[in-house]
Parts: sequence; structure tokens; C-alpha cells
Amino acid sequence: MELDGKRTLITGAGRGLGLAIAKLFAERGARVALADIDGAAVEQAAAEVGHDAISLRCDVTKPEDVQAAIADAVAAFGGLDVMINNAGIEIAKPLPETTDEEFAQLMAVNVNGVFYGIKYAVPALAQTQGCIINMSSVAGQAGVPLLGAYSASKAAVIRLSQTAAIELREAGIRVNAICPSFIQTEMVDRLVAPFEAATGVDFGDLAAVAQGRLGTPEEVAEIAAFLASDDASFVTGSYYTMDNALSASKQ
Ligand SMILES: NC(=O)c1ccc[n+]([C@@H]2O[C@H](COP(=O)([O-])OP(=O)(O)OC[C@H]3O[C@@H](n4cnc5c(N)ncnc54)[C@H](O)[C@@H]3O)[C@@H](O)[C@H]2O)c1
Repeated sequence: MELDGKRTLITGAGRGLGLAIAKLFAERGARVALADIDGAAVEQAAAEVGHDAISLRCDVTKPEDVQAAIADAVAAFGGLDVMINNAGIEIAKPLPETTDEEFAQLMAVNVNGVFYGIKYAVPALAQTQGCIINMSSVAGQAGVPLLGAYSASKAAVIRLSQTAAIELREAGIRVNAICPSFIQTEMVDRLVAPFEAATGVDFGDLAAVAQGRLGTPEEVAEIAAFLASDDASFVTGSYYTMDNALSASKQ
């Protein structure tokens, strides 16, 4: 998928899916800005990406940080074509055990962060008829035991994406979401212990039964590359499920 010259800002790009997207985009000719709350990780990630990638420290729960990251990317590249709202956190607890503070923090990152990333990127994207990609999850399409707060936040990401796609169609801005199932990243590494404790089943066996195998960050990056490319010119308001047939039997 050709991404030549696409000026792209990716949040949560210090590791995991955001970093894999940054690498693939840079390899395909995009100019990438990596933003993350973890300043040291994102600096190292940008160095790993190479291709003149830039790193920005940004806490997506703070509207002023998101505005500054967008302004910095626009200043560095002379404009913005693609905004990828990827930063997210998880809580693996039953809802009654989730503290009010944990719930609020998860919503602040996963929902408010995406809202700010849409809202504040629009002026720059309207100049370029650019696009927005929001990282949701298959957990946003149904309830998931242990991931209740996370699941609710990812459902909100789908609805934000759909509404933004309709509202921004006239401005020529496409908005889509990606819904992966379990992908091999540090986030999933952190889920192993709580899932095994709750189910008594080896996580590898759980994942194998549910979805055959874990996905790879590179496989998610390929979908992001398609959605960001001009080949996806008629694709907006969609949420792309990629789950190795995990949810196929439920539909
Ligand atoms: N890994 C999966 O199986 C999976 C599946 C579906 C969806 N997702 C979603 O994909 C996205 C990336 O997940 P991942 O697996 O790479 O996670 P990860 O934990 O490996 O990486 C997430 C990155 O986001 C950053 N981050 C956290 N809070 C932030 C904040 N307030 N501001 C800016 N950056 C922040 C972290 O520092 C980290 O670098 C998340 O939105 C996640 O919910 C992941």
C-alpha cells in the first residue's frame, strides 16, 4: 500500500501496535511523528523507526498535550494527512472490583484521548482531505468478562469514529476504526496472569481455542496502511474487525 509523503501522527507509539504502524508507514514512504506519554520509550522508538521520524511526549488525557503534538507535527512536516489515535490502556478486573479511579483513568485515555485526537486534528486534516484511524478492539463489539471497562471504552471509540465520519464527510476527512482481537504486545502480556487466575486455563490455550493464535502488530499495521492509503478513498465510517474468526461464530 503506497503511503508516499503521508504526514502521519500516531499516539501511543512508544511500543506495541503504534510502533509497528510507525515502522510500516515509514517503510512505505510516510513521514511519521510518534507520540507517547513515555518520553524515553518514544524517543527510542523514533530512532528505531529511522526515516527522519520524530518523537513527541504527549499524554492524550490532556487536551493541551494533544493540541501541542498536532501543532508540532504540522510544524515539522508542513501539514498533516493521517491522525492515528492508538494510545490505550487496559484494566483486567471484574467490574465490581474496578475502582472508580481506575475506571475514570481508563476512560480518560481510551475515550477522551480519542475525542481530543479527532477534535484537534480536524483543522489540519481539513487542509489536506486527510484521514483519522482510531484503535478500537473486538472487545468494543461485545461484553468481555474481566474487560468490562475496556470493552465499554472501545465501544465508545467505534461510535466516535462513526459519528465523526458522517460529520466530516463533506470536509473530505475519512474516519475509520480498527478492531483487533488479541495481538502479541506488552498489553496482552499483562493480561496473561489475570486471565489465568480467573479461568484456571493456560492463556495460550485460551487464545488458541478462541482465535487460533495471537495476531502480530505487523498484521494490524497492514490494515492501518490500507485505511490511510488513497486506495481506501470510499472507506469511511467503518470498523475493521481483524480477529482470525474469533467473532465469526457469534454473528
Ligand atoms: N494488543 C492487543 O491485543 C490489542 C487488541 C485490540 C486493541 N488494542 C488497542 O491497541 C492500542 C495499542 O495497544 P498495545 O497492545 O500496543 O498496547 P501497549 O500497552 O503495548 O502500548 C500502548 C502505548 O500507549 C502508551 N500510552 C498509555 N497511556 C498513554 C497516554 N495517556 N498518552 C499517550 N500514550 C499513552 C503507552 O506508554 C504505550 O507505549 C490500544 O488502544 C489498545 O487498547 C490492542
